[in-house]
Amino acid sequence: MKKTVVLTGDRPTGPLHLGHYVGSLLNRTKLQDTHEQFVMIADMQALTDNADNPEKVSNHIFEVACDYLAVGIDPQKTTFFIQSMIPAIAELSVMYMNLVTVARVQRNPTVKTEIQQKGFGQSIPVGFFVYPIHQAADITVVKAQVVPVGEDQLPMIEQTNEIVRSFNRIYKKEVLVEAQALISQCPRLPGIDGQAKMGKSLNNAIYLKDSADELAKKVRSMYTDPHHIRVEDSGSIEGNTVFTYLDVFADDKTHVQALKDHYQKGGLGDMKVKNYLLEVLEAKFAPIRERRKEFQKDRAQVMRMLIEGSERVVGVSLKTMAEVKEAMGLNYSAF
Ligand code: TRP
Repeated sequence: MKKTVVLTGDRPTGPLHLGHYVGSLLNRTKLQDTHEQFVMIADMQALTDNADNPEKVSNHIFEVACDYLAVGIDPQKTTFFIQSMIPAIAELSVMYMNLVTVARVQRNPTVKTEIQQKGFGQSIPVGFFVYPIHQAADITVVKAQVVPVGEDQLPMIEQTNEIVRSFNRIYKKEVLVEAQALISQCPRLPGIDGQAKMGKSLNNAIYLKDSADELAKKVRSMYTDPHHIRVEDSGSIEGNTVFTYLDVFADDKTHVQALKDHYQKGGLGDMKVKNYLLEVLEAKFAPIRERRKEFQKDRAQVMRMLIEGSERVVGVSLKTMAEVKEAMGLNYSAF
């Protein structure tokens, strides 16, 4: 039986952190066993707000690939590819732009938020503005049926499916396939400063590539209960980042519960809890860090893997493109 096609991806603008790990990377190591999985490095999308800094994007392609490999996304099971190596994505984008109104793109809540966050004001790059259309091309070029994403990406999937339906209706052929969003079951990981979201630009992230020392320093600086001043004071678990992380990462739930009880009662210092979290994180991420170092040493091999995957996707994309052009009556060589 043919496996369900899955596509996911990341913009290569920074190294991947523990938020990515719980939100998507772990999921990908599982999906590759049951699905036909494509993982795309979205360099073109990263350029939509980094046009003046292409090195940042190109350098992070390798870094992000090392992160993927280190956590166990396996090129034998998953096809990795680089977005800019697939010309059909750009071609499809142009075709899809005719199927979407400016007003429709303007309504996209994620794009709206990002425009504010990035401070574009009146100077929004057109490429940025239309990136949801470009993303529809990423998804449809491999005819993805499932797209695992964070909640902020739901508007992109919705937009994609509107394009799919418009295309198939207008060109009277079921060429494109609708995609289903698969939302991560894992709650969002807060930053080490207690902010709701871990993020590169927020300066509150623990990276997969962090050394043991960096990890220890970050864990020791983590946000806890600001009212828990003396060891004998009772402390609060709610919004206490160290306990949130223990809930996510510690396997020994009984021990975590015992720590919580003790902390709330009073008599348990923050440092003790942090040291336990550090032990838990070190056990989980030291092997990943070591594997990452090995891949990092062999840039040529990692890049070759990405190029081979991209070549495979070019093959897939040519088939999609031929069907698209035929449906649109653009298959001139047939006349
Ligand atoms: N927009 C996604 C993000 O910012 C990255 C992305 C680009 C993507 N193309 C995609 C994700 C296609 C899933 C499918 O994280």
